Amino acid sequence: MVWLLTVYFPSLVRQMGHLFNRNVLLGVSGGIAAYKSAELVRQLQDRGANVRVIMTRGAQAFITPLTLQALSGNPVHTELLDEQAEQAMGHIELARWADLLLVAPATADVIARLSAGRGDDLLTTVALACPAPLMVAPAMNQQMWKNAGTTTNVAALVGRHAHIVGPAEGKQACGDTGPGRMEEPSAIAEAAANLFQRALLTGKHVVITAGPTREKIDPVRYLSNNSSGKMGYALARAAVEAGAKTTLVSGPVTLTKPEGSHRIDVTSADEMLTVCQRLLPQCDIFIACAAVADYKPASSETRKIKKSAETVELELVRTPDILATISACAKNTFTVGFAAETHDVLAYARDKLARKDLDMVVANDVSDNSVGFNSDHNAATIIWKTGEQSLERATKHVIARKILELIAEQARHAD
Ligand code: C5P
Repeated sequence: MVWLLTVYFPSLVRQMGHLFNRNVLLGVSGGIAAYKSAELVRQLQDRGANVRVIMTRGAQAFITPLTLQALSGNPVHTELLDEQAEQAMGHIELARWADLLLVAPATADVIARLSAGRGDDLLTTVALACPAPLMVAPAMNQQMWKNAGTTTNVAALVGRHAHIVGPAEGKQACGDTGPGRMEEPSAIAEAAANLFQRALLTGKHVVITAGPTREKIDPVRYLSNNSSGKMGYALARAAVEAGAKTTLVSGPVTLTKPEGSHRIDVTSADEMLTVCQRLLPQCDIFIACAAVADYKPASSETRKIKKSAETVELELVRTPDILATISACAKNTFTVGFAAETHDVLAYARDKLARKDLDMVVANDVSDNSVGFNSDHNAATIIWKTGEQSLERATKHVIARKILELIAEQARHAD
């Protein structure tokens, strides 16, 4: 049985920083995977975490406290009944210090002791005294992992809201093949980061417009643009990860709905506006990411326009400005717009913030082909009334997460 909390994308992790200033207490127990703890400490620190380490006696047979002390920059805690260590930082203080207790690798024995609520060494005692979330990365022989005792113990921890990461399947140190390998350090660190990310927007309803709109000319023709919808969909995925109820109001795109989000398909700007207006009373955060067509035909033909004359005239009229309309009616909704420009990007974005009376604008320079439309990457400057932040080129998912972090922060201030 394998409990995997999320799909992890180790290649993205370096660019994240979601453990910034978080105190991670890493409990290392005695499995061969303990040698990977050194890399795990680094991965956690890369994301901005402060790391302290507790090692069980078994762990010290695989890796020395000195190694983890040098990497973590803090003394490693090993003994429960050590007068000196208790003077420096007692086990209760250690338990209170932690924003997350991460046990990796967690042997079958440690899982059993955590599950039973024992306090027979420093790690389990701290776990008993620790109010922070518990994350466990099991590592053991595949038969031990499948053992009914382990299954029961893991289920008990899950029942108490512990987060289980892995184990991964594959070749094991003992020669067996199967589930039981400790998940890779990068994946564990990302799971830890996701845990905090998830709490960001819990209880909030985020509505995101995405993709292009199509403005009908006749039954077979329309006006539209090149928007792929990737940025809006990345925002929806990040919003789900951040714990928000997420509604995507999507123009026609070929993307699949991010798991956990609700998608409402629309075609024209008028339809998009109608749906957004309907959602507004229950919407805490409105993000207008759609590339809404600026003009639509003054009237659309019910029958296909036949090819005859050398030239045809098409009268176009403005589509409704969805974002401006929503922002004008929004009382308690945090409104976010996008500004895709080819020049004077920041000046236009600041102007948009004021003109459409927004809480935040995400400014993109679309003259750079390596980002923006259709690309999987983006770079942006986020502007709000009292500040701004530049986000360097990264995948749209990473940019989306950062945008949502800033929205959560600013929306909290606005509350
Ligand atoms: O004014 P401009 O089109 O440059 O503004 C871009 C922002 O406004 C984007 O957030 C876009 O989704 C939104 N918008 C809108 N309805 C329109 C035009 C733009 O919601 N008709």
